Amino acid sequence: MNHSAARSALIQKIQDKQARVGIVGLGYVGLPLAVEFAKAGFRVTGVDIDPSKVDALNQGRSYVQDVPSQVLRPLVESGRFHATQAFAAVRDCDTVNICVPTPLRKTKDPDLSHIVAACEEIARYIHPGMLIILESTTYPGTTGELVLPLLEKSGLRVGEDFFLCFSPERVDPGNPVFQTANIPKVVGGVTPACGEVGAIFYQQALQKVVPVSSTQVAEMVKLLENTFRMINIGLVNELAMMCDRMGINVWEVIDAAATKPFGFMPFYPGPGLGGHCIPVDPFYLSWKSKQSGIEARFIELAGYINAQMPHFVVDKIQNALNSVGKPLLNSRVHILGVAYKRDVDDVRESPAFDVMHLLRRRGARLSYSDPFVPVFHVDGARLEAQDIWDSVREADCVAIITDHSAFDYPRILDQSRLIVDTRNALRGLNSPKIVRL
Ligand SMILES: NC(=O)c1ccc[n+]([C@@H]2O[C@H](COP(=O)([O-])OP(=O)(O)OC[C@H]3O[C@@H](n4cnc5c(N)ncnc54)[C@H](O)[C@@H]3O)[C@@H](O)[C@H]2O)c1
Repeated sequence: MNHSAARSALIQKIQDKQARVGIVGLGYVGLPLAVEFAKAGFRVTGVDIDPSKVDALNQGRSYVQDVPSQVLRPLVESGRFHATQAFAAVRDCDTVNICVPTPLRKTKDPDLSHIVAACEEIARYIHPGMLIILESTTYPGTTGELVLPLLEKSGLRVGEDFFLCFSPERVDPGNPVFQTANIPKVVGGVTPACGEVGAIFYQQALQKVVPVSSTQVAEMVKLLENTFRMINIGLVNELAMMCDRMGINVWEVIDAAATKPFGFMPFYPGPGLGGHCIPVDPFYLSWKSKQSGIEARFIELAGYINAQMPHFVVDKIQNALNSVGKPLLNSRVHILGVAYKRDVDDVRESPAFDVMHLLRRRGARLSYSDPFVPVFHVDGARLEAQDIWDSVREADCVAIITDHSAFDYPRILDQSRLIVDTRNALRGLNSPKIVRL
């Protein structure tokens, strides 16, 4: 088969939905993607190294909040989706999306070990006429500099024998309006032929595809989006600390500024950055940028300011207790919400870790409640979620760290003695018991 024939044959298979789709890494990103392609009529194989996830999925049980088991189960029962730990399944796939984690090391350097491990396995089973797409968030250049050489060890040539793209994942867990299917999908290829095949692939299952000219552009798009958020949150967190010093209500300032119909977008302060993306991804960019001799000073500064917020919150709690004649030492502080954001069960990088760590260090007695998180570990100690009403009544101070919509705020205010609100969850309520961020 000549090269353009390989491309045409793959495109035809994709358009006929005969292509076998492989998804490597079945977490918050990979599982919803697998389900979208299965729903679009493809046969999808998910590969994950975690046996408990593979077992759960093959029994039709989802562990990702945005993928209800009722949606997954019929796809499993009809054979449209199955999961495996065996990478040999890649041999039967025509496409593979890589959705494995990309954490930071303690030094804030990128940890690409999961991508490398996945690509080494894929390289063992890659065959002519395949499309491989990296979706894990990473620094610009990863697809061409790291993934491509690993795959070309197979002897196959990119753009000719196989096609390689990067497509950033923009999923926003818990968002009821925008989910995998209706979030526009940016995709860039190592060669124009790669980009073409990648775009046609996503068009089969997702509503809008945005082709860009290269993998580096696609990689940078994601980092721009997340860096934009991180820096604006840093700005507004700094503004919150300024307003606090000047006795100005920062929330009222933001709400009024947001009435400007152009040129302003509201961001809100909080107890610190959480989640898998915003606190992590910009440091991928700053690491790479240093290699080109440019210090990413906005990123470093916003990172520094955002890291001050848990300290700021703990000072607020301590001062609030002081104002009613109590030291933080041995006071009972009840934390409301430990997930990293509203209405999700994800605690990765949650600011609750830092806030609770600092409170423990200053001798506070801690408890928490969170309808999404039954168990939470702080400094190696295992905490179980407590009954909200007993805890709120008994606490010397309640601190709202996550503003889940299930919380009954008027009742919480009524039953608390003192309440530190880091999320403006008590907006519209007034009481001398409330201390706002
Ligand atoms: N969670 C989000 O909201 C979000 C949003 C956009 C982008 N991302 C990016 O997407 C990527 C995946 O994130 P996630 O939140 O889905 O992570 P996750 O931890 O929920 O899922 C990753 C999965 O990959 C599996 N895995 C790890 N190494 C593997 C390997 N070598 N082979 C096969 N499977 C392996 C893990 O067992 C896990 O199930 C990351 O790069 C992340 O930055 C995440």
